[in-house]
This record gives sequence, structure tokens and C-alpha cells, in this order.
Amino acid sequence: MKILVIGGGGREHALMWRLAQAGHEVVAAPGNPGMEALGRCIPVKLEDQDGILKLALDEGADLVVVGPEAPLVAGLADRLRASGVATFGPSAAGARLEGSKVFSKQFFARHNIPTAPFEIATTVAEADAAIDRLSADGHQIVVKADGLAAGKGVVVTADAAEAQAAAREMLEARRFGAAGATLVLEHKIAGREVSVLALTDGQRLEVLPAAEDHKTIFDGDRGPNTGGMGTVSPAWISDDCAARIRSEILEPTVRGLRADGIDYRGVLFAGVMVDPAGAPYLLEYNCRFGDPETQPILARMKGDFGAVLLGAARGEMPVGALAWDARHCVCVVVAAAGYPGTVRLGDPIDLTALAGVDVHVFHAGTARRDAELISAGGRVLGITALGISVEQARSKAYAAIDQIGLAGKQYRRDIGTRHQPAR
Ligand code: GLY
Repeated sequence: MKILVIGGGGREHALMWRLAQAGHEVVAAPGNPGMEALGRCIPVKLEDQDGILKLALDEGADLVVVGPEAPLVAGLADRLRASGVATFGPSAAGARLEGSKVFSKQFFARHNIPTAPFEIATTVAEADAAIDRLSADGHQIVVKADGLAAGKGVVVTADAAEAQAAAREMLEARRFGAAGATLVLEHKIAGREVSVLALTDGQRLEVLPAAEDHKTIFDGDRGPNTGGMGTVSPAWISDDCAARIRSEILEPTVRGLRADGIDYRGVLFAGVMVDPAGAPYLLEYNCRFGDPETQPILARMKGDFGAVLLGAARGEMPVGALAWDARHCVCVVVAAAGYPGTVRLGDPIDLTALAGVDVHVFHAGTARRDAELISAGGRVLGITALGISVEQARSKAYAAIDQIGLAGKQYRRDIGTRHQPAR
């Protein structure tokens, strides 16, 4: 098959690598310097739906795999499908699961999917009243902007006063613009978070091994949130918990989407909080592969990923066609100086010492300046290693990172050190 991958981050590099490994011809738009080693990268912008459609038709792509959420929310998959292009990624209607927190929470409630109690507010008065009610029994409140806010629209607050201040920043100061014009206010659920990604063709589910992300910039889960600083897969959850996530969250979601008339062909990426008693609560859905969850999941994957994605795109996904390397995988993100604040760009990156080293170097924020590789984004690389234990995978990833030349490189040193149950 010829497969067109849309996007140019670490997730898309991993997707393109895995699809190429399965023997497919791969083309990317816009891609990145790491992806150039796998296939042609065509400089089409993500928001240029006409350009992407033309590229897919000109290339005669058998399948388009859309990486990021913004083009999905904007209807790229609908556009491609309307022109007869098999596309892995939900329609704009399905992508509302990520694009609107109000839509998604109402969906969870309508389909009895376990999630934190919540209220919706569009004015400060409504927000204050909702915060009073939700915090009456001592609960901490999470304030969420309804729309896409580059992963920054969720504020976990310590008390009602903080929640009110966060609501004002969104509703009055318009911290997230129109995305924060409507809010979801909900109870904070205590527990440990896990990322569970499932492929679906709208009927069937292929649940992938879980991954655990590390969201803050500093070790010990301190500092501001990022897009994700590192992942471990498989994750810490028990088989029983994984079964509950499937039966209580993912299966009702697929049934609910069908009942609501939404033909969802893509990834359901569930951010799940598992409470101390082992009960899973759905925090949110993303409508695309996670980044950096995708890197360790795909590094362990065996089988023809392309055939599974094409099957999903056509509504006839083969289930059970994928197998998994028994080893553990750790992905450590190397970020640029300043991330997640103002990022310093344009620093030279030297990867020569990694030639022959047993890790995957997935590019995210990289670019070329003439022949030189330079940093071009906050998260620059995802160094991904397999090992017979999490400890061995960690050691391999960190030994490789030590050899990367990048001025001001930042990375967490504790990826994979949280308690991992024996397997
Ligand atoms: N790692 C979290 C995300 O992809 O949104």
C-alpha cells in the first residue's frame, strides 16, 4: 500500500516508521527531518485541506492516516472520505469528543460512562454557583475550557477560591480565547492516570497496550504541564482494570457513538483515572494517537499495522491481527531550553554518537538549516528503548540521551521510576 501520514511530530514519525516496517510505501505531509529517512515529506500545511486532498489524490494514496487533532476537528477526514480516499481518523462529528469538553462530558453522561460529576457554565455567576455546589462536600474542582487549547485548557485547583479565579481567567480575561467561552467544572478524581488507546472501525475495538505519560516538566511530577515528557508501556494497570476500562468505558463509547449516528473510524484515546479502589473514571477522550504514548506502543507492536488501519478506515477492521513484543518500552522526551514556556529554537542537534545505538530516535521539533539539524519546537526528540525490564529500557534511553548534542536540552530523569508491578 501507499500510505500518506498527515503531521510532523514524534507521533507521526513513530506511525510512519511502524507502517514502513510493515512493508508499506509511506509519504508524509509535512513530515520532519527524521521522517525523511522513511519516505518523501511534502511541505503541505495541516490547515490546507485542499492541498492535502490534492496530495492524496495525486499520490494515489491507498490510505491516509491523520495524526493531529486540529485537522480532524476541522473536518479533514470528512473531506477526504467524500472524495473516496480511505482515511483513518474520525469525522468532525466524532472528533468533537476531543474538540468540545461539553459535548464529551454530555456524551459520557448520556451513555453511562463513569466520569467525574460535572456542571457547565457560560457566565461567572453560573461558574460560581456550580463551584459552590460541586465543592460543598470538600471536593477539589477541575476547571476545563470547552474547546481546544493546545493541551493547556485544564486547571486542577486546590480550593473553591482557586477554581473561581481560574473560571474568571477563562470567561472574563479570555485566557484561551473562544475555547474558554464555555466551561466544564468537575470533581477532581484522586488516583493514578493511564492512557488507553483503542482502534475502532465504528463497530469493533482493538485495544492497544496501555501507556503511562509523565505530564509535568520536572522530576517528581512538579512544574507546569507539558504535552508529555515521557511514557512507559505496558503500563501499571492490572488485567482486571484493563478489562473494566474496556467494558465500562470503551465498549459503551463505541455503542454510544453508533446510537448517536456517528460513524467513528479512528483512535479512541482514553485518559483514565484509576481510583485507589481500582475503579476507572474517564477524564477525557482524544480523537487521535497520543504523543508520546504512540512511540512506546508502536515500538512493541508486531503485525501489519497498515492493514489494520485500512480495515478500520473501511469499516472492516481485522481484530487480533496485532501482536506485542514482550519487552517493556520507555520513551524519554528531550525538550528544548525554555519549554514549556518560551522555547529557544534553532540550536544545532548532533546525533552522530547514536549511530548503531539500540534505541529509536523519533523526531518531533526538528528542522534543517541547510544541511544542519536544528531544534524547531518545544519537544525535540523522543528517545525510545526496549528492555527486558523497565529499568533496562530506561538505562538504554538515558545512555543514548547523554550522547545527544543539543545546547540546553531538558528531560526528566525519572521516567519509568514510578512503581511498576511485576509482569
Ligand atoms: N500525551 C498526551 C497527549 O497526547 O495528549
